[in-house]
Amino acid sequence: MSSRFHNKVAIVTGASSGIGRATAISLAREGARLVICADRNVDGLEETRSAIAELEAECLAMRVDVRSQEQIEACVQATLERFGTIDILVNNAGTGQFAPFASMENDEYDRVMDINLRGTFYLCRAVLPTMMKNDYGKIVNVTSVMGEVAAQGQSVYNASKGAAKLLTQGIAVDVTGSNINVNAVAPGMVVTNMTQRMFANEKMERFFTERIPKRRIGQPEDIAPAILFLCSDEASYIHGTTLVVDGGMLCTR
Ligand SMILES: NC(=O)c1ccc[n+]([C@@H]2O[C@H](COP(=O)([O-])OP(=O)(O)OC[C@H]3O[C@@H](n4cnc5c(N)ncnc54)[C@H](O)[C@@H]3O)[C@@H](O)[C@H]2O)c1
Repeated sequence: MSSRFHNKVAIVTGASSGIGRATAISLAREGARLVICADRNVDGLEETRSAIAELEAECLAMRVDVRSQEQIEACVQATLERFGTIDILVNNAGTGQFAPFASMENDEYDRVMDINLRGTFYLCRAVLPTMMKNDYGKIVNVTSVMGEVAAQGQSVYNASKGAAKLLTQGIAVDVTGSNINVNAVAPGMVVTNMTQRMFANEKMERFFTERIPKRRIGQPEDIAPAILFLCSDEASYIHGTTLVVDGGMLCTR
């Protein structure tokens, strides 16, 4: 087992499937001790936990709704009790938007903003005291190319991810002088639970593939290495940036 993250303690949210699962497993493969969280998909979380157990890495799986400050504080507390520290936070939990702007209900606005932005805010704030005390930490927020440019029917999702990008920059500035790195990864189109229905439609799949210079939709395993890079000490001079991982899609806009 490689040791780039030997004994590092990493919290990964939204680890029950997709990009979060691929990231958690990759971190474990490289020596990290994991705290994996998700809100509802308990079976998915268990599958991730068992894949990590097969790697003989330590792992604590917790049901956490990132909209709840109480549950996040309990998660951070449980991490500290089990592992004594927190080195890495990957804010990956997220949700999509399924309505054009004119028909967006207040509840849907709250749901998208609370999961994608408020959750990131709560988690970053909850881990920072430990990272400040240790003068060491890596935070990676998973945003989206939809936080870089707008798309039809995605207005509030666009706003949540654009705001998460700026929140990343703001925190990066506020930890000035510390040995803490705060960055974001903005995936393009990736086949996960969130998008599988869309890409199951052959026409949609072709529509997007034709707009991606790499001529394929991404997989979670295309995104995880970028997240790991920003979590690593090789990236210690990269701070407050958003790394777009989209097969070149944004170049064509
Ligand atoms: N799939 C894509 O094309 C794509 C593109 C750009 C960005 N993203 C972002 O990547 C991240 C991961 O999404 P994915 O594509 O792997 O989808 P996914 O549906 O496989 O994973 C989403 C994860 O977030 C968790 N989650 C959702 N609401 C939550 C809540 N309230 N509390 C805690 N956990 C919650 C889910 O349980 C799941 O584990 C999201 O932030 C998403 O916005 C995805």
